[in-house]
Amino acid sequence: VIYLDHHAATPTPEPVLRAMREAGPIAWANPSSTHSAGRASRRLLEEARDAVAGALGAKSADVVLTGGGTEACNLGVRGVAKGKTRLVSTEVEHPAVAESVARFARNGGEVVRLPLHRGRPPSTEALGEHLDADTAVAIQWVNHEAGTILPIEAYANLCERRGASLFVDGTQALGKLPIDLGNLGAHAVAVAGQKIGGPAGAGACWLRRDLDVEPVLDGGSQERGRRPGTPDTLSMVGFGAACALVEDRLLEQPRLSALRDRLEQELVAWGGVCNGDRGPRVGTVANLSFAGWEGPLLVAALDLEGVCVSTGAACSSGLQEPSAVLRAMYPDEQWRAGSAVRISLGIETTDADVAAALRAFECVLARKSG
Ligand SMILES: Cc1ncc(COP(=O)(O)O)c(C=O)c1O
Repeated sequence: VIYLDHHAATPTPEPVLRAMREAGPIAWANPSSTHSAGRASRRLLEEARDAVAGALGAKSADVVLTGGGTEACNLGVRGVAKGKTRLVSTEVEHPAVAESVARFARNGGEVVRLPLHRGRPPSTEALGEHLDADTAVAIQWVNHEAGTILPIEAYANLCERRGASLFVDGTQALGKLPIDLGNLGAHAVAVAGQKIGGPAGAGACWLRRDLDVEPVLDGGSQERGRRPGTPDTLSMVGFGAACALVEDRLLEQPRLSALRDRLEQELVAWGGVCNGDRGPRVGTVANLSFAGWEGPLLVAALDLEGVCVSTGAACSSGLQEPSAVLRAMYPDEQWRAGSAVRISLGIETTDADVAAALRAFECVLARKSG
């Protein structure tokens, strides 16, 4: 199988599997228990937290471990929005953020959603029009479908000057861009395990110390009162081990970028139209629409040829809905959303994989034109 859906989840590498195997006989114990078994589990949990903090350039005490990226996003959005009357976001957020933003609106808050037409990130001027001390911003660092990189450092600077609080969905940024939260100036940042070779269901929300956050769940006082429930030590060990390898992922980005460019060039030659290519992008994703094709059919046909790709975010592609991200990026070309394929690369991807994927595309696309 040629796996090219790394933006959904990227394979678990051997060092992560090994760390989890070794932790298994210890990590079952409740890390909040005061006896020796609990303390051993606690040690593993705290080592994992240190590794997550290390990958983020943050202090361990500011890292809240969560049950995945969605929970981390929910916690972060609610954290920055607490006490604010306006929430500024974009039209292309992952549902993990978009639905928290929608909740803010349902509760009577004012919401502004900035566009990313054709993959162009909002300018700082566009963002600046809406910022004051009563405003929170909830915005992604890297778009999950098109790979668009948003200028988060510039946004953070601006938010700081205007007294606005900033949540960043860093789920697709970790492992693809260097992250240094200690110097960023954001108030909350979410990340998730499965995007960097850790387990799904393991995530983290970094929270600036002065942010007064209410937990998303009701319960005990774990995670310094910010995330109730018994922590999943075993998953966090995996997440921590994956975080320790983040540098290796960053080093591979130029190679992946070159592979992505090759993929894109060939697919454009066969009638594909690139999506989101008008702004800066990470090198791990090609998103193309094929006129006359339905994205889900193309994905299924490629699957039969042994190539795993997707139409967009895994949580919505299960529903076979046209991509909300592309609908928003191309308001005048709605056909793109229904006929899109997202091909995303990871450190395991080789030249041979790309060549094989291209052969499969050629074979499938020929059926329609023939
Ligand atoms: C940009 C972005 N934000 C949030 C999430 C949600 O993360 P999780 O699936 O771990 O809840 C994802 C996962 O696909 C994502 O790509």
